[in-house]
Amino acid sequence: MSKQLKTPFNNQIKKIGYGNNNDQFILAIETSCDETAASVVKNGRKVISNIVASQIPTHQKYGGVVPEVAAREHLESINMVIEAAFKEAAILPEKIDAFSATVGPGLVGCLLVGLNAAKTLSLVYNKPFIGINHLNAHVCANYLDTDLEPPFICLLVSGGHTQIIKITSYGDQEILGETIDDAVGEAYDKVARLIGIPYPGGPNLDKLAPTGDKKRFQFPKARVDGYNFSFSGLKTAVLRTIQTFNKDNIPKADIAASFQETVGSTLLKKTLQAAEDNNIKTIAIAGGVAANSEIRKKIFDLQNNGYKVYAPAMKYCTDNAAMVASAAYFMSNVMTDLEVEVFSRI
Ligand code: KG4
Ligand code: ZN
Repeated sequence: MSKQLKTPFNNQIKKIGYGNNNDQFILAIETSCDETAASVVKNGRKVISNIVASQIPTHQKYGGVVPEVAAREHLESINMVIEAAFKEAAILPEKIDAFSATVGPGLVGCLLVGLNAAKTLSLVYNKPFIGINHLNAHVCANYLDTDLEPPFICLLVSGGHTQIIKITSYGDQEILGETIDDAVGEAYDKVARLIGIPYPGGPNLDKLAPTGDKKRFQFPKARVDGYNFSFSGLKTAVLRTIQTFNKDNIPKADIAASFQETVGSTLLKKTLQAAEDNNIKTIAIAGGVAANSEIRKKIFDLQNNGYKVYAPAMKYCTDNAAMVASAAYFMSNVMTDLEVEVFSRI
């Protein structure tokens, strides 16, 4: 599992990652969307420092993330965030074993900022560079400060992706199914906008939902093959429901609660099915939407059915760099070439 890595300027080959007996410190950077983050993690699990500069106040006035604005803000924050990560960890850059960054998927202009910073650190300190897929990182957030070991099934729910993943060993993640249209986070954000909840839509809808009646509206649950999902029909159904009300009279909380109930039960059903079919008794969730109170509750209720359930701490569900450092340690299909370019989609 351990990776043999070298930078162009030295011949010293170093083994990085799981399977190595020496303690290893990885500094990772994450800038794929609207958080500028840097973190130092020891041996893929122990978070030594975790700095996240959120851009929510900036994008709030536009009602969503504006890519060019986000990229500029990453540029403004990146040096400060990296410096803070070193400072909080009380570690010198020379003591870092490898530098890592998210390569994609994400917003290209944003990814470039973090990737170039990590490549530069790698060249300056003559240490290996490890490029990471953002989705692998979200799953690895479950290793942070926990004792989770494969095999497990992971439900990954973020702003851009919805997947059920089988993890049989630390290095590999096999996608069993995914959404054929909207991602869950995207559906949350769109529905929030439809009912007039301000950005960030997902977390705000989550706050409103518990005050509503989840049985008031029966939204459709799309029937999709295997472990795949579809959420675009649900979004349209919410729109149709809204259109039956006067603009000032929309029952926002009831719609939010009913929508959240439909999403949660769909996700739960397929995740449980994947675990049963693969005879795996450990389930994890990951991604920004894993911070959702109802989805967390539904998945954790599986503990009553004999499952071991893991979810990252809230701060490791939404974008952060600690999960990237963990992926750099554990994953085997990483990008170690300094010439690697950012990518927007898988
Ligand atoms: O993983 P993430 O931070 O970024 C991506 O990789 O996409 O996920 C962001 C998504 C957004 O769509 C946001 O609205 C959603 O996660 N989200 C939530 C909650 N917290 C964040 N959705 C529902 N409930 C939440 N509590
Ligand atoms: Zn993410």
